[in-house]
Order: sequence, then structure tokens, then C-alpha cells
Amino acid sequence: MTLNEVRQKFLDFFREKGHAIIPSASLIPDDKTVLFVTAGMQPLVPYLMGEKKHSQGTRLADSQKCLRTDDILEVGDNRHLTFFEMLGNWSLGDYFKKEAIEWSFELLTSKKWFGIDPKKLYVTVFEDKGMDIPRDDESIGHWVRAFKSAGMEASVANGRIATYPKKKNWWELAGAGPCGPDTEIFYDTGKEHDTAFGKQCHVNCECGRFVEIWNNVFMEYEKKPDGKGGYAYTPLAQKNVDTGMGLERIAMVLQGVATVFDTDVFKTSFPGVPLESSVLRSFSQLTPEPVFESDSVVLTTRSGRIIADHLRASVFLLAAGIKPSNKDAGYILRRLIRRLGVHMKKLSISQKQLNNFVSNLIHYYGNYYSELNRHQSIIIAELKSEFDSFNVVLEKGLKEFEGRWEISGKEAFYLYQSQGFPFEILQDLAKEKGNIINEQEFQEEYKKHQEISRVGSEKKFGRHGLMLQTGELKAADEEELKKVTRLHTATHLLQAALRKVLGDHVHQKGSDITAERLRFDFSHPQKMTDEEKKKTEDIVNEQIQKELPMVCREMPIDEAEKVGALMFQKEKYGKTVKVYSAGDFSKELCGGPHVSNTKEVGTFKILKEEASSAGVRRIRATVDPVRSS
Ligand code: ALA
Repeated sequence: MTLNEVRQKFLDFFREKGHAIIPSASLIPDDKTVLFVTAGMQPLVPYLMGEKKHSQGTRLADSQKCLRTDDILEVGDNRHLTFFEMLGNWSLGDYFKKEAIEWSFELLTSKKWFGIDPKKLYVTVFEDKGMDIPRDDESIGHWVRAFKSAGMEASVANGRIATYPKKKNWWELAGAGPCGPDTEIFYDTGKEHDTAFGKQCHVNCECGRFVEIWNNVFMEYEKKPDGKGGYAYTPLAQKNVDTGMGLERIAMVLQGVATVFDTDVFKTSFPGVPLESSVLRSFSQLTPEPVFESDSVVLTTRSGRIIADHLRASVFLLAAGIKPSNKDAGYILRRLIRRLGVHMKKLSISQKQLNNFVSNLIHYYGNYYSELNRHQSIIIAELKSEFDSFNVVLEKGLKEFEGRWEISGKEAFYLYQSQGFPFEILQDLAKEKGNIINEQEFQEEYKKHQEISRVGSEKKFGRHGLMLQTGELKAADEEELKKVTRLHTATHLLQAALRKVLGDHVHQKGSDITAERLRFDFSHPQKMTDEEKKKTEDIVNEQIQKELPMVCREMPIDEAEKVGALMFQKEKYGKTVKVYSAGDFSKELCGGPHVSNTKEVGTFKILKEEASSAGVRRIRATVDPVRSS
């Protein structure tokens, strides 16, 4: 079953169950507080809230284009993508748990439909002893009966059904909106459990053995600000069903392949000569990056998968009318295209080859998403113009070495520092000209610079910084040190909150902490609105009230990158790094120190938001009201 056929079958199934099939809404939401549609339910919020009646009735199904950039560093593994389609069926105050679960089971296991062996399926349901909402016994009952219809015993005791707290089995948007407990369906790939993820494997484990294929959310609550910086849950007037199934993932399961990149859409859009006969063979021997099993060269390396993912996402964004720019969605598109460009260089993929990939993608999707056909020439022209302007940056750097045979590691470092020229690209280019850059020298220069900037930051950080290093604390300074530490944790929460409110383009550009206030510089193209500031403040305070433990883990830098830890300047860190997490909310590379629980931070308040430099904003904030003497 091809990806296109899987989509069609899903829609046909729900049409048979009385659902109206609605077209995907645009990737760019009407609601301007978010940059992209990230879930199928997003365009339907007013109908789920009961604020509006849908013209197509109370049973709907669709395939919704979605884009998520929070997992961008995971792209290249077996299942993460930026752009994806989410298949969904909705009940707007119509059917509830019974039908939703019965139909999920029927679609997945019936020979007439997806025909998955039910023995491969595991499900999870909601149980959170810390909440006023009881365990979802009703869903458990429906699952027991569904498995029984296939001759199987399913129970919590035998592990076919597992219960998890809110953190796993509850679905809501970051802000206010409809929400509720969910039941998730997992497919057992049969892979060995990877012990890097803990001793024991379980259904919701991150090791990759169990792949989540479908989420059924029972939206019977509304999440509303409680006026104290947190949120409260109140029952919704209508009980809804919101489901989401990742089209690419279910296609991967149904096609019996190990990764989303091995499904037909990628294989037909990114064809390649077998690795054996390829010029890239030599590349695969040189590069330290993982090389995967596949018969398409492009999809064989991590770089290739990044190209495939980012190109597909860029094509859909361009077709949605977004142009690369320094703002909002355009900025994300620019980042995707430039990253694509870097990896194209690595694999020596030409603009012409890329245009072929674009045509293949458009051909593949054109029947369902006709906007791709209509925008074909614009897509190709915009990609070319963005690559051209990116090349100017690259060329400018290269000019510095024209006519010279040797580029020293030191010079490479200078170029890296002044122009942001990645070392690996420089090395590739140098090799083309018959040179090899001394990587060791580059690294040494790099370390030296690191030392200098550490001394610099100690100076800036004042006595506190030095004290933190030497541990020589004087009693009189302890109060101040505590305050600095609390502000430091607040800075982490602030960055995570800004990314939730403004988008993933927000990155730290600078930070300075005194005992009075924190100062945080970050990438964002425009002035924050009062509402955005308020929202940011509320989110930070909400996380403080959640009393999240601040946990520090040491890990190799690659792993830190894999788990999505934010890094200020990745290159500045050593091989082993410390990652500080506040629950699931914030994860950042950092040397500390931090409070041990967010509740120690106090009340967070933004004092001022202003421009710092082009494309960079600055926030000053404090914790606790300033005490009057
Ligand atoms: N809204 C749910 C999700 O996105 C179905 O997973």
C-alpha cells in the first residue's frame, strides 16, 4: 500500500462510518499566535469548543498537513520528520469512546482495511493519581472487548494495556484550549530494547521498539488560565473525539520497512544509484556520520535524510505561499533551505538533481495537493534564489583564500568565527582544491578561544562567577549568590517559554545575570506584544508552580543534541557536557549552578523588552517583587 493509498483507505473507512471528508487546512494557521499547524485538531478548535457549528456536520475526517520544528535535530533517525501528514477523525459532540476505540481497532486489524496482526498492537490509557480525574476504565473496557473480538486476552495485568499519568496520556495544546485524556496505540517492531534508555523496555519507552501510530483524544475538558499564572481544567459542554495518526509512520508499518525514509514516497522521490556503484561510496567511507541500509544513495546517510525531509517541508511551505525571509514562518523556511544547502554540499548534490527531486515530489503529491502543481515554477525559482544568496555567504568566505594553497586551521577558525562557516563544509571545499585543513589546529584555536571567553564571562559575571568557580563563598554573599542562581534557572525557563510563545526560531544570543536581574538576548524579528509578554511570564510562573526538579545529567555532546538540549554555541562545549532539565519543559546545555526545584525561583516578572540589535531582542526580568526597605 503506497502512502497515497493509505491516506485514501483511511478516508474511505471513515466515510463508511458516516464522516464527511474535509480538505486539509493550510499549513499556515489563521490563528496568528502559532507559526504552523502542528496537529490535525488545530484548525478545528472553535468547533471542538462548541463555539461554532461545522457546515459538514458532527463527524469529520481528513489528512492535515503539519509542520513541527521542535524535533528538528532528531531528523535522520528512523521516524522523525519536520513536515508530516496527520490523519484524523473527529466527533464534535457526536460519538465518544466506544465507537472511537472499536473503529480504531477495526481499521487497523481488519483484513479489509489495514490488516495489522493484533498481536503487534499495544495500547495505553490514562491514569493519574495526582489528578481529580479517575483512571479511564471505560476505555480499558472497550479495548478488552476489541482484542477479545480477535480472540485475544487483553488486560492491564498482562501488559497489553498499560496505564500512564498525564505526562504521557493526556493531550492539550501549549496554551488554553480543548483537551482531555487519551488512549494511544503502539506497534511493536520486535526490535531489541536499547538499554541506553533504561533497564526495562515498556510500551511508552523511547528506545524505538514500540512506535506510536495513533492517538485517540477524548476531549471533554477545557484548559483555561486560572488567573494565578497557571491553568485550570473545567468540563466542556460537548464531548469530542480528536484522533491523530501520522501518515508516514503508519505507511512505514504497513510497508514493513524500518524507517519512514524507506517508504515509497521517499524512495520514488529521491531515487539513486545503488551505493556500490556510487561516487558517494567514497564519501560513505570518509564520513563519520552513520550510513544506513537503503537502495537509494540519497537516503543512505543522515545528511541525505535531512535533505529529503527539509526539501519536502520547504516544498510544502513554498506552496503555502511562504517566502524565505528573516521573519516568522519565512525565517523557519530559510533555515530549512540553508540547512538543506549545507547537506547538499556535503553529498555533492547539484541544483539540477535537486530540481528533479522537487519534480518527483510534486508528481507524487500533485493529485491530492494540487497547490503543489500550481506553484511548481515558484518553488523551483525560490529555492534557487535562496541557494544563490546563501552561496554568496559561502563564496565571500572562500574569496579570502583565493590563490593560496594552504588554509591553516587557525584561518579556518577565523572564518568560522567571523562568518559562521561550518568547519566540515570548509574542509570539503578545501579538499576539492587538493588541500586539507589541519583540524587539530582548528580545534586548538577553538579551545584557546573558549578559555578566553570563559575568562571574559567570569569578568562579566562578576564576583559571583568567580565564586561559583572556586567555591569560596563568604557568608555575606550567600544571599546574592542564591539570587543569581535563582535568576539563572529562571533564564532557562524563560528561553523555553519564549520558544513556546514565539516559536522555535528563538535562540539565546546572550545572557547576563546580576543579583538584581537577568538579561536575556534572543533571536526574534519583532517587538513582542503585551499579550506575548504576559503569556511568557505566565508560562514561566506555571512551570515554577509545578515544582519541577532541576536535574543535571552528564552525557556526550552528540547525545545532548539527540535529546534536543538547547545549546547556546554548540562548538564551544567539550565532548562531555552537562544538560540541565526542568521536567519535560526545558532542557539546556549548561554548567550550572541551578536551584534544585523550580519552586525556589519565586515569582518571575518581565521588567522590559526592547531591541538589542538587528533581529535580536532583549528581556530584563527579575524574580520576586523587589522588597521595599
Ligand atoms: N491531537 C492529537 C495529537 O496531535 C490527536 O496527537
